Amino acid sequence: MSENQVKETPQESLENPLARILGIESSCDETAAAVVENGREILSNAVASQVDLHAQFGGIFPEVASRQHILSIYPIVDQALKDAHLKLSDLDGIAVTRGPGLPGSLVVGINMAKGLAIGSGLPLLGINHLEGHLYSAWLAEEGKKKKKAPRFPLLALIVSGGHTELVLMKDHLVYERLGGTLDDAAGEAFDKVARLLELGYPGGPVIQEAALDGDPKAFDFPRSWLDDSFNFSFSGLKTSVLRTVQQLEKQKSKLPKTDLAASFQAAVVDVLFQKTLRAAEEFGTKDILIAGGVSANQALRDKFKGQKKFSVHIPPLFLCTDNAAMIAGVGCYRFHAGQRDNLEMDAAPTWSISDL
Ligand code: KG4
Ligand code: ZN
Repeated sequence: MSENQVKETPQESLENPLARILGIESSCDETAAAVVENGREILSNAVASQVDLHAQFGGIFPEVASRQHILSIYPIVDQALKDAHLKLSDLDGIAVTRGPGLPGSLVVGINMAKGLAIGSGLPLLGINHLEGHLYSAWLAEEGKKKKKAPRFPLLALIVSGGHTELVLMKDHLVYERLGGTLDDAAGEAFDKVARLLELGYPGGPVIQEAALDGDPKAFDFPRSWLDDSFNFSFSGLKTSVLRTVQQLEKQKSKLPKTDLAASFQAAVVDVLFQKTLRAAEEFGTKDILIAGGVSANQALRDKFKGQKKFSVHIPPLFLCTDNAAMIAGVGCYRFHAGQRDNLEMDAAPTWSISDL
């Protein structure tokens, strides 16, 4: 056992967080509301995506995002309550994403949650979006058989449009951040390369689709290992794809977009997989958890599922990208643990998981 290895800790007190919580999420380009019971059962999960709205800009336009959240927030919360066949008085609390995220988008959800808390007298809980992504791995739809809960300590990889983080989760709500990206997040790299190849937005799904017809070995794109650290860097890879495209264009060659997509995707998956496994080995965890938008990537899922050394937990596809069930899920655990926030709670656009 290396000196970094952590002892297994029992999950007694928080194993069954008895609570029924409304979650609200508006940190980026999805307006979402959901009701979750006892941290694991989704009673409703309403999401209004702004993807089509932002696709015309090839990325998220913050000002447009906040204004769309204002239009969608009330109908989405109403829908989440109706779908769950519940009234506010049937709930124990209101959880809302405080950050990280776009400031103008976060305040829309936060103000809605405050209004509901004032009107109903229910407690308000501010939730970290990245912690939400992690807890999506505990969730299952109402009436569906729940998968085995992840065991602690576990090694978690959060891969989204804004973050790439390796986190050691020692117990419920207990985190040690091991590293993260020094430049682009994994999802951001997918989005930028998709734009470069003129494949559309968001980049993850379109690169994945194009890669199906491509050869992942066609181009030997660089993998940035950054020595032994648990940090990541994807900007060199992005530049290498750009240079290759420029060279091919100079030679007037037709762009082999599927090969470029497949080779780029293979490079990202390779680094994410190898670093996560090395961290899990070093810290002696039996379980690995992967969450965030990029965890929807089939090549990444297949790579992790293909190894037998660790038990791998990846949320179902509909919970990989932003949703409010994950915020309500954390809300149950934090409500049970005693968290209560007051009405002065502000947005926390750069809130790191190491500050939890
Ligand atoms: O978690 P998320 O919905 O929002 C943030 O918190 O950022 O993640 C969005 C990111 C985008 O960059 C998108 O391109 C990426 O997740 N993504 C994918 C896939 N689906 C979404 N990346 C790779 N493969 C996918 N299938
Ligand atoms: Zn997210």
